[in-house]
Amino acid sequence: MQLDILTIFPQMFEGPFSHSIIKRAKDKKLVEINLHNIRDFATDKHKRVDDYQYGGGSGMVMMIEPIANCIGHLKGKNAYDEIIYMTPDGELFNQKMANYFSTTKRIMILCGHYKGIDERIRENYITREISIGNYVLSGGEMAAIVFTDSVVRLLPGVLNDETSALSDSFQDDLLSPPVYTRPSDFRGWKVPEILLSGNDKIISDWRLERSIERTRIRRPDLLSEQDG
Ligand code: ADE
Repeated sequence: MQLDILTIFPQMFEGPFSHSIIKRAKDKKLVEINLHNIRDFATDKHKRVDDYQYGGGSGMVMMIEPIANCIGHLKGKNAYDEIIYMTPDGELFNQKMANYFSTTKRIMILCGHYKGIDERIRENYITREISIGNYVLSGGEMAAIVFTDSVVRLLPGVLNDETSALSDSFQDDLLSPPVYTRPSDFRGWKVPEILLSGNDKIISDWRLERSIERTRIRRPDLLSEQDG
């Protein structure tokens, strides 16, 4: 998979992309992530990327030319399955969407800032608009990092134990059951006996029950989504 990320803050990605699962996926060449600085595509000598909005109002808007130039440059080299704009007024991101994006080959992700981007970019280039939650971030970078992590970990070969991504919370609209490791008794706090029984059938039934119970208590909305 190839991810091309358009941002005015490429340095923000350095830490998150050089550790843990994303680093492993890059090292194994399962994903190629390219960062593109929108400022490099600015047309004036001051390398401006934002300007006042037409009609007045507070807040700067990201200008059309640098973004259009950057997108045009990339589209001239590659065909993209999706061109995503990270924005709080986008479609709410969820696990099903992460699953879908993990099956695509090449994605471009545009990170906005200030009051947003010139609407003509959205109308003419963007194929999906995604929000990672009902809150406003200072820019799309953190959202792009969250998106990338959730998608890259699903690529075949990235996780050691292939089944572990499938048993994640949300993968079947259920939250994960509680998990424990050694010691089995810590200050009198004991691991449930069933997990020590060695009986796989009883253990998997217990886990499913705990998953359903936890989902009913914490996220009943997920269970009603299944009914519908
Ligand atoms: N940019 C600012 N806030 C955002 C959000 N919640 N999701 C995606 N991109 C954003």
